[in-house]
Amino acid sequence: MDRKDIRRIAVFTSGGDAPGMNAAIRAVVRTAAWNKLHVYGIERGYDGMIDGHFKRMERRDVANIIQRGGTILRTARSERFRTKEGRAQAAENLRAYDIDACIAIGGDGTFTGAQVFSEEYNIPFIGLPGTIDNDLFGTDYTIGFDTAVNTAIDAVDKIRDTADSHNRLFFVEVMGRNSGYIALHTAIGSGASAVLIPEAETSMDDLKVVLRKNKARGKLFSIIIVAEGHPMGGAAGIAATLKDEVAMMEPKVTVIGHLQRGGSPTAFDRMLASRLGHNAVEELLNGKENVALGVVNDLPTCYPFHESIGREKIPREELIKMASILAI
Ligand code: F6P
Repeated sequence: MDRKDIRRIAVFTSGGDAPGMNAAIRAVVRTAAWNKLHVYGIERGYDGMIDGHFKRMERRDVANIIQRGGTILRTARSERFRTKEGRAQAAENLRAYDIDACIAIGGDGTFTGAQVFSEEYNIPFIGLPGTIDNDLFGTDYTIGFDTAVNTAIDAVDKIRDTADSHNRLFFVEVMGRNSGYIALHTAIGSGASAVLIPEAETSMDDLKVVLRKNKARGKLFSIIIVAEGHPMGGAAGIAATLKDEVAMMEPKVTVIGHLQRGGSPTAFDRMLASRLGHNAVEELLNGKENVALGVVNDLPTCYPFHESIGREKIPREELIKMASILAI
């Protein structure tokens, strides 16, 4: 499809909300308006596509949202879109609104849905990486990751006060699904004693050594960041495993949870989301379809869905090693 064939596009957010999604929606709507395209926002992701929840969006509809967390289009994890019947209904609705192409903001599941659907119904999709987990291949960062890490670091800074005052050991669990990015960056940024992530094998013996060394050098409190996807069962699982070893340190478990998903996006996330939203419209008009966009080394990237979906993205070895060196 060349530049002139696209007249109407739809944009939606899907999967877990992430700070910066609104900035991306704003950039899509305004870039589309500048190119004289009609934009429809679809509410609640693929569920809204199936239920026909489309609303026309003009440039003023996205005023005053760049600073807001969550997503004004709301979101969902749609089970119905996994079914042929659900997708058929969604295709019928897109046709009824004369939608030529869609921009999907979400994670791996969102891109998988887009790929299956566009193959079945030949409707071009562009995917924007919107998830706090930073687990998408083909981009250095995903929209929302930076804000989530900042929120987690802020929480650890506060926990540090109590850990210090009471000489306690804290296991702090952060989100990330199966990815350790949030945990690793939170640990480095908060100066934690150790970090446990699914991508790096840390035995309980290693952890015991860290704790004993801390004690030997007079460190009276410790903060250990645990990725929720750690195979030993997150922070609670690890604390239980080390129960006897750490009993003297009054161990506490804090799960930061959904606090990490909310809040006003950082400058970094606003910038990233604005660039990606703008690029999505430009790339559609340049004839790109069924690709996921990203930014690598500060340059825009574009990978076909089939090359990016399901590909593992692993934190750099050097950073994992650095986290333990800086914690000594
Ligand atoms: O993918 C974002 C994320 O916050 C993950 O880090 C977490 O595992 C999951 O979503 C939680 O999902 P829900 O909000 O549906 O419980």
